[in-house]
Amino acid sequence: MKNFIFVFILFATLITVNAAPYQFDKRATTFKPCPDGLPSPNVIMTPDPLVPGQSAKFNVSGTLMNDLFKGLADLRIRFSDSKRQRLIGDPYYQNFNESFPAGTPFSIVAPKVDVPSDLTNKYVIEVVIESELLTDIYGCSLADGEK
Ligand SMILES: *[C@@H]1O[C@H](CO)[C@@H](O)[C@H](O)[C@H]1NC(C)=O
Ligand SMILES: *[C@@H]1O[C@H](CO)[C@@H](O)[C@H](O)[C@H]1NC(C)=O
Repeated sequence: MKNFIFVFILFATLITVNAAPYQFDKRATTFKPCPDGLPSPNVIMTPDPLVPGQSAKFNVSGTLMNDLFKGLADLRIRFSDSKRQRLIGDPYYQNFNESFPAGTPFSIVAPKVDVPSDLTNKYVIEVVIESELLTDIYGCSLADGEK
């Protein structure tokens, strides 16, 4: 009986360990800081992975070192080829409609971002918090996507 329980626990552990990486793979896209060393906001995309030619919701949140003023700060999302040399489609822009002081958590939800239908097999998603008007960049995250 003892042996049976031991084998059962071992078996259950093995199944859990095997299942974990699979679930990890399924929640496909991992955002990381851009090479410029700016703070890297969290990005949740729905659906994830993206579907070319359809729209997606982006929820971008975090804490930055700059004040974000409504009407001045914006969210930019753009797609490029895997080497980040060629843009695919037009960038998406959305102004902040709420202000967030520096050092406090912000979030902005882009409800409907068009995902280009002509995405390359491997591509890069770039999510930037900036002020296009002031030509300032406050935060940036990147992720590799795959069709
Ligand atoms: C966006 O993400 C933040 C942080 O995870 C969460 O608190 C918030 O509820 C989300 N908003 C929407 C509309 O999904
Ligand atoms: C900002 O816009 C979002 C969606 O676009 C909306 O849900 C939210 O209520 C707006 N906030 C303010 C303060 O107007």
